Amino acid sequence: MPKPLRKAVMPVAGLGTRFLPATKTVAKELLPVVDRPLIQYAVDEARAAGIEQFCFVTGRGKTAIVEQFDLAFELEATLRERGKEKELAELQAQALPPGSVLTTRQQVPMGLGHAIWCARHFIGDEPFAILLPDDLMMCDVSCTKQLADAYLETGGNVVAIEEVPMERVSKYGVLDIAEDKGRLVSVKGLVEKPRPEVAPSNLTIIGRYVLMPEVIGHLAKHEKGAGGEIQLTDGMAKLIGSQPFHGLRYEGRRFDCGDKLGFLEAQLAFALQRPELAEGVRAFLPNYR
Ligand code: UTP
Repeated sequence: MPKPLRKAVMPVAGLGTRFLPATKTVAKELLPVVDRPLIQYAVDEARAAGIEQFCFVTGRGKTAIVEQFDLAFELEATLRERGKEKELAELQAQALPPGSVLTTRQQVPMGLGHAIWCARHFIGDEPFAILLPDDLMMCDVSCTKQLADAYLETGGNVVAIEEVPMERVSKYGVLDIAEDKGRLVSVKGLVEKPRPEVAPSNLTIIGRYVLMPEVIGHLAKHEKGAGGEIQLTDGMAKLIGSQPFHGLRYEGRRFDCGDKLGFLEAQLAFALQRPELAEGVRAFLPNYR
């Protein structure tokens, strides 16, 4: 019986250079899509998968991320006084239970693999999910829940995957496929940011993972990979052969909110899902053709 999945790590220590100057003072993960910060979507998604413990890997200027999940007594009192019960209830529902949030610091952004290694004491000897909050998911069933179910089914590592045109594989971690069973793909190797002509496939890893704790031992070697960074993909590749490793074609859509166009598309897609906004958005859109 696989160990239950209770923990999630959310690396938020990146510099967000593609969103400067906004990210000079506001963490990329706090930028809102409609009215919710990116980090809030990720936490809600993890909670919908039964995650109970959260670790934010933060860096300088990122402390406000933790505030987002705390109680806000003065704000709550003011909302109560003004009779704004709906807003109050929503705010209170978003606070995480006492003791369920830890933070660790990645002093220098040395890569995603290094950020995960910084959470090693939180992870201990349990399986854990990773959510990169700048990948915003629109799924009927929480993407992390889909991965959690696949973990119970396979008893090992599972990463969310999607197909991209071959010319774009060099932005991603790419799967070397052992067997493609449709929904699940068993993996015999992983390559980070390969050139299209040497890429083993066009199945790429997005920012959602369920990993076994043994990956930490490999990341601890601090070996530099693509771009001179300590890559999570390289650490994960070392698990293959000793543990099950699968890609999951998740059901839903991903918006790359670390990128301006992806972020703008997410604003429209999420606004169109809101009954109180959809009509207004459809009314103004033709003005911009
Ligand atoms: P990105 O590759 O999008 O980097 O990181 P970035 O610094 O956030 O943004 P740009 O490219 O400068 O605009 C993907 C995820 O990994 C985290 C980021 O916070 C983001 O959630 N990350 C990346 C770290 O926590 N530490 C790192 O060293 C690198």
